[in-house]
Amino acid sequence: MYEKYWKVEEKPFKNTPDPRYLYYSPQHEDALMKLSYAVTGDMGGGVMTGVFGCGKTIVGKALTQQLGEARYNFAFIDNPMVSFPDLLRAIVRNLNSSKLPDKKTELMVDSLLEILEGVLIDNDRDGKDTVIIVDEAHIIDDPKVFEELRLLLNFQTKGKFLLTLLLFGQPELKGKIYNIKQLEQRMPIKCHLDKLETKEISAYITHRLKVAGREEPIFTPEAISAIQEHSGGIPRRINHICDLSMLVGFGKKADKISGELVQQTIKDFGI
Ligand SMILES: Nc1ncnc2c1ncn2[C@@H]1O[C@H](COP(=O)(O)OP(=O)(O)O)[C@@H](O)[C@H]1O
Ligand SMILES: [Mg+2]
Repeated sequence: MYEKYWKVEEKPFKNTPDPRYLYYSPQHEDALMKLSYAVTGDMGGGVMTGVFGCGKTIVGKALTQQLGEARYNFAFIDNPMVSFPDLLRAIVRNLNSSKLPDKKTELMVDSLLEILEGVLIDNDRDGKDTVIIVDEAHIIDDPKVFEELRLLLNFQTKGKFLLTLLLFGQPELKGKIYNIKQLEQRMPIKCHLDKLETKEISAYITHRLKVAGREEPIFTPEAISAIQEHSGGIPRRINHICDLSMLVGFGKKADKISGELVQQTIKDFGI
């Protein structure tokens, strides 16, 4: 809607986990490096925790893109089911849907595990590593489900894990894992994402505008200060404020987005 007016090729602040837009703050870079090591270093498992909207999902998408489908078979579960059979079925479907019979009777854990093992062995034979990512894993409440997930790491061959299990979730996930000692021990890689620091917010905004095709700034230093203050440094909120400010600025035919305009937007939209 406002793309032409602001001379951008697409909306720069869409709240979607598009890895093209990833801004490599030190903590995002650190998380990506560690998770990548969890996979390439045959570490078994890893955990990434972080406040809602700080970039866990976008880092996960960047990881899968960086590692590549040619060499890896990924299951990216973005909304974990409450029961283990459902979760396991989603994992198998994500890895290789053709192996999954349609009949609901095949929901039995034992047969699903057998199918999964077949997929893992096929992948290994084809020179592919298998990576299972469970996003929003803090939703899982039943410790038994975590326990079952841990058992997946028993699929090994010649001392090598047949899969890497990565769990992403909000900060409470840490406690849930910590309470299950055997799972904790199987998750040697840990990383955490927090809000961006004040000085990073300006660079974040500049970066996203650049990816969308715009080099000159749109937001004045006062606008950036207002965004820093009202977003609390959470990328999801920064995006929200920036996007709506661009819309309001377009409506007002502004040539820059001022601090006042950002304040007005926050008030009008009740952000
Ligand atoms: N480092 C980053 N670089 C670019 N965009 C980011 C970054 N971190 C978060 N975002 C953006 O913020 C929004 C929320 O990020 P998301 O990965 O969904 O957070 P989480 O999964 O932690 O709730 C996404 O739209 C994403 O594009
Ligand atoms: Mg997420």
